[in-house]
Amino acid sequence: MQLAGKRVLLIIGGGIAAYKCLDLIRRLRERGAAVRCIMTSAAQAFITPLAVGALTAEHVFTDLFDRQDEQDVGHIRLAREADLVVVAPATADLMAKAAQGLAGDLASAVLLATDRPVLMAPAMNPRMWAHPATRRNRETLAGDGVRFVGPNSGEMAETGEAGEGRMAEPLEIVAAVEEALAAPAGPLAGRRIVVTSGPTHEAIDPVRYIANRSSGRQGHAIAAALARLGADVHLVSGPVAISDPPGVTTLHVESARQMHAAVEALLPADAGVFVAAVADWRPQAERAEKIKKQKDKAAPTLALTENPDILAAVGHHEKRPRLVVGFAAETADVVEHARAKLARKGADIIVANDVSHDSGVGPSGVMGGARNRVHLVSADGVEAWPEMSKEEVAARLAALIARRLA
Ligand SMILES: Cc1cc2nc3c(=O)[nH]c(=O)nc-3n(C[C@H](O)[C@H](O)[C@H](O)COP(=O)(O)O)c2cc1C
Repeated sequence: MQLAGKRVLLIIGGGIAAYKCLDLIRRLRERGAAVRCIMTSAAQAFITPLAVGALTAEHVFTDLFDRQDEQDVGHIRLAREADLVVVAPATADLMAKAAQGLAGDLASAVLLATDRPVLMAPAMNPRMWAHPATRRNRETLAGDGVRFVGPNSGEMAETGEAGEGRMAEPLEIVAAVEEALAAPAGPLAGRRIVVTSGPTHEAIDPVRYIANRSSGRQGHAIAAALARLGADVHLVSGPVAISDPPGVTTLHVESARQMHAAVEALLPADAGVFVAAVADWRPQAERAEKIKKQKDKAAPTLALTENPDILAAVGHHEKRPRLVVGFAAETADVVEHARAKLARKGADIIVANDVSHDSGVGPSGVMGGARNRVHLVSADGVEAWPEMSKEEVAARLAALIARRLA
């Protein structure tokens, strides 16, 4: 049985499609899964806890503030005692709550408290599904690592309505459950990949530092894309304001030297992708005390010293990964510089991008922005990719890495 021993927590939202959940429960149980259910109060307007409980042979949870349930299991245990959380039907309302991190009822509190993978099967009127708010919520949830199945196109339960918004059929949801619960598959399964991302901070004194405009968006997106292809991804991140990518082991560092040490400790690996904008220089000596302004004294001068070159160090390392990919941020002669770097750093691929403010990419340029335009420079030549979102660059690069490691 495909799902023998697996525990599925099914959250049933308040949509017409809730009736299909009765069949979904049967299908999951036929395959050996244990199914526990949470029903929103709206869901109970469509199907009854009695029917759901009869099919799951388990207590059905409906209320965040039920004293008995809270004593017996508690919403936090409920959120964790599952291999997979499935939301079906995922109403517009539940998606919005989950995207916002609201926790005002049992279903949304469990979605916020869970550390388990989440699969949503949206079902709603086509207008609701097409609404920019729902689009945004779907994007946010996908970025948080939520998987989706459906919705499909077709006739809606309401007469005279058709379009995209029908919940996926129970057997389609079962297939998505099986896929989500399968051992990590994908072309990069079993591959260990080290990724660096973000800027570094180089301390001047206890309160000041030298930094750069890197946001970490490109590196984090690459780490997530590699993980989606099944890789065991270790991300070494400089100080960033974005969250750790889903499915990735993230290590936080501040300075170039800390990043270097963290990367060294993570070798050997099958591939290394060095996206971080590592400071080339750091102040020669970090002052123990805050530098004070002094009357009539000239401004202090900062003496700089070179930082370790992490990409070159790994490119020439005795434990060199089979594939070494470096990023090169340039403001002029992008491809020329990348070509020179390829040999000097011992990299297989240099992903070069133009980070000048007038590069024409996005409103604010590449650094800190959402879009990127890159050139891939390798022994095979130069490949120019059109401007696209950083997520698309990440997905394409991850696919290329999978091909190179195959
Ligand atoms: C007859 C009827 C059908 C509904 N069908 C849906 C639906 O398919 N999808 C949806 O997102 N909302 C639907 N709604 C609206 C939700 O029930 C409503 O937004 C509710 O607050 C959702 O609560 P929940 O997300 O806690 O389950 C429907 C409402 C009614 C009255």
